[in-house]
Amino acid sequence: GAEVVINGSSSPAVVDRSNESIKHNIQPASAKWRHNQTLSLRIRKQILKFLDAEKDISVLKGTLKPGDIIHYIFDRDSTMNVSQNLYELLPRTSPLKNKHFRTCAIVGNSGVLLNSGCGQEIDTHSFVIRCNLAPVQEYARDVGLKTDLVTMNPSVIQRAFEDLVNATWREKLLQRLHSLNGSILWIPAFMARGGKERVEWVNELILKHRVNVRTAYPSLRLLHAVRGYWLTNKVHIKRPTTGLLMYTLATRFCNQIYLYGFWPFPLDQNQNPVKYHYYDSLKYGYTSQASPHTMPLEFKALKSLHEQGALKLTVGQCD
Ligand code: CTP
Repeated sequence: GAEVVINGSSSPAVVDRSNESIKHNIQPASAKWRHNQTLSLRIRKQILKFLDAEKDISVLKGTLKPGDIIHYIFDRDSTMNVSQNLYELLPRTSPLKNKHFRTCAIVGNSGVLLNSGCGQEIDTHSFVIRCNLAPVQEYARDVGLKTDLVTMNPSVIQRAFEDLVNATWREKLLQRLHSLNGSILWIPAFMARGGKERVEWVNELILKHRVNVRTAYPSLRLLHAVRGYWLTNKVHIKRPTTGLLMYTLATRFCNQIYLYGFWPFPLDQNQNPVKYHYYDSLKYGYTSQASPHTMPLEFKALKSLHEQGALKLTVGQCD
C-alpha cells in the first residue's frame, strides 16, 4: 500500500511571516473534503505501534501507590511523590475502555474560532475534546458547549486562575470544574516539575468539593511515544502540543476526526488578524527560541492529513 505522506516537502520552510497564512491556505469549499477511511485505519494501526490511547490516556490505580516516586518527564532530575489525593483520583479502569465514536471534534484554542459560528457543528460530534479548560459559555456560538474531555496543563492555574491567590479565584476554578459535569479532566501531572503544587491544589479542590469529573493523568511514556510516531513520519517535534497529543490519541477511538481552532498564525486566510487564543490576550509566543512548541510545523503535518482525508481541519466559518 501507499505510504502515508505527512511531511510532504523536505526543503526547509521559508520564513516569511507576512505570508505565512497564505501558504497554509485551506480550501473554503468544505464540500470537497472527503473522509478517507482506509487511510484513517492505517494511521490508527501505525500509531498503535507506539502507544495505545486506551492505556496511555491515564495511569491507573493498580500501577501506583501513595508515596511512590516519579521522575518528571522533562525534568528527569526532579521527582514527586504520589500523594494520597492523587492516588485517590487515579481511575481504576481506563476512561476510554472499549470506547468508539463515529465522529470526534478536537477544539484547539486559536482565535480563528471567533466569529466562526462553529458552535452548533462542534456540538453535533459524538465526542468533543477541548484544551486547557478554555471557557465555553461566553463563546458558545463559536466554540459550542459539549465537552467530553478537557485537558488542563498545570500552568493554566497560573495563567487563567491567578494561582488561586484568593477565595474569588478558587471559587472561579471550582465553578469551572463543576461545570464539567462528569466529563474527563485530563491533567498532565508528570511532565514538568513546575506544576507540582498546582496539580495538588486542583486535586484537593476536586476531592473536597466532590466535583463530578473523571480525572485522568497521562502515562509516563505518552509523550515520548507520540514524538516517536511523528518522528518516523519525518515530523520533528520537540514537544508535541496538547492539540497534537489529542489528535494522536483520538485516532484510536474516533472514526472521523474534525479539528477546530487550530491556526497558529497571526493572520487568517483573508489576512485579517487572529488572536492567539479566542478567550484571552496571550500573544504568539511559540515563535520565540525559548518556546518548546513548533506549532507551524505541526500545522503543516495536520494540513497534509486534511488534504489526504485523514482528518478535517476547519479554519474558517462553519456553514
Ligand atoms: N492551537 C493552535 N493555534 C493557536 C493556539 C492553539 O493550533 N493559535 C492548538 C495547539 O495544538 C494547542 C491547542 O490548540 O496545543 C490548545 O491551545 P493552548 O491551550 O494554547 O495550548 P498550548 O498553549 O500549546 O498548551 P500546551 O503547552 O499544553 O500545548
